[in-house]
Amino acid sequence: MSALTFESVCLCQYLFLQEGPFNACVLRSPDSAGALELALHGVASVLPPGSPLWVFGDVRAGVLNAVKALRPLFKLQKPVQELGEVRVVRALRTSAAPTAPLEAWLRSESVEILGRRREWCSMPGLFAGGLVDVMTRHLLDQLQAVDSLPREHPSTPPWSLRGPDCRVLDFACGSGVLAAGVRQLWPEARLVLLDADAVALEAARRNVPGAEEVVLADGLGGLGAAEAAAEPFDLIVSNPPVHRGHADDLSVLMRLISEAPARLRPRGELWLVSQEHVPTGQLFELARKSQPGSALLVTEMVPTADGRFTIWKSGAAKRGRMTRGVDLMAGAMIPPQISWRLFLCQCIPWPPLGRAHACLVS
Ligand SMILES: C[S@@+](CC[C@H](N)C(=O)[O-])C[C@H]1O[C@@H](n2cnc3c(N)ncnc32)[C@H](O)[C@@H]1O
Repeated sequence: MSALTFESVCLCQYLFLQEGPFNACVLRSPDSAGALELALHGVASVLPPGSPLWVFGDVRAGVLNAVKALRPLFKLQKPVQELGEVRVVRALRTSAAPTAPLEAWLRSESVEILGRRREWCSMPGLFAGGLVDVMTRHLLDQLQAVDSLPREHPSTPPWSLRGPDCRVLDFACGSGVLAAGVRQLWPEARLVLLDADAVALEAARRNVPGAEEVVLADGLGGLGAAEAAAEPFDLIVSNPPVHRGHADDLSVLMRLISEAPARLRPRGELWLVSQEHVPTGQLFELARKSQPGSALLVTEMVPTADGRFTIWKSGAAKRGRMTRGVDLMAGAMIPPQISWRLFLCQCIPWPPLGRAHACLVS
């Protein structure tokens, strides 16, 4: 008997593509009902009838949803086992047919991006239902404002004038909304999309056809050595993740801020959007202290009218025009109720957990 284990962010795709059958599966419950359903169908597509499945996870993250979700394809084995907040739900595979392959889960939706309605491809369990998130919309509005500036305006960023040479990365792209908006504004720009979720990328590939590259990776490091040697980016845009499951986790954002300079052209920029309570200014400040001379400097912060979100624009240190206001705000960005210790804990990178963990035994 051989065991196949993985902590893969590309779990669902992997399951659907995997040549089974396997004898058993252990699945870490994904944190949304849609992703759980998709994962169960992926598992069912490689488990023969009678094989055992264990779904485990935290009750606060909704592991007990598995009890109902697995019924169409598995027979629940009582009792559900408990250990503190962790529950293990056991079941046996029935002969019911799963919905497979992965493409069978694609949904066709309609979304509006920068005033234009268009068809949109989505999958269960994606961020914002695989549609357009309100924060993403704010970042798109800022990009659109650039497009309406005259070429010679002092605020016109150099990357917006580069035409077909402009290379843009949509970091943590989800279903590809930001990349699709960039393409609408600058049709010649060369687009690279990156996300840690292969299911999201299946949708993004369809929503932004002809992108230069669609990369499955945990952070910028995943672009790989060959890519690092290749052309850098003029612009990185992102609505980055700040949670892992239900828990806050700023590690991906922190890595993005500190690793972006190495991926940008000398006059390149990183634009991102974050919630008001996320200490983004502090993260830029930490990166600046740990990489003096090479870190990105915040050049503009644009809070939304209701104050819930902020667009952060940053550029390489040499040309950074860090305003005093930004500098002072960065120092005051940690809400008083959050201690430094807690703040630093939030920033400690955790091993990649991804959408789900699973172990199949053959
Ligand atoms: C807040 S959503 C934004 C999605 C998309 N940009 C949008 O605006 O609709 C964050 C995205 O980050 C992705 N993600 C989570 N961890 C990641 C990591 N370590 N590296 C890259 N992407 C990650 C998630 O899969 C999710 O698609």
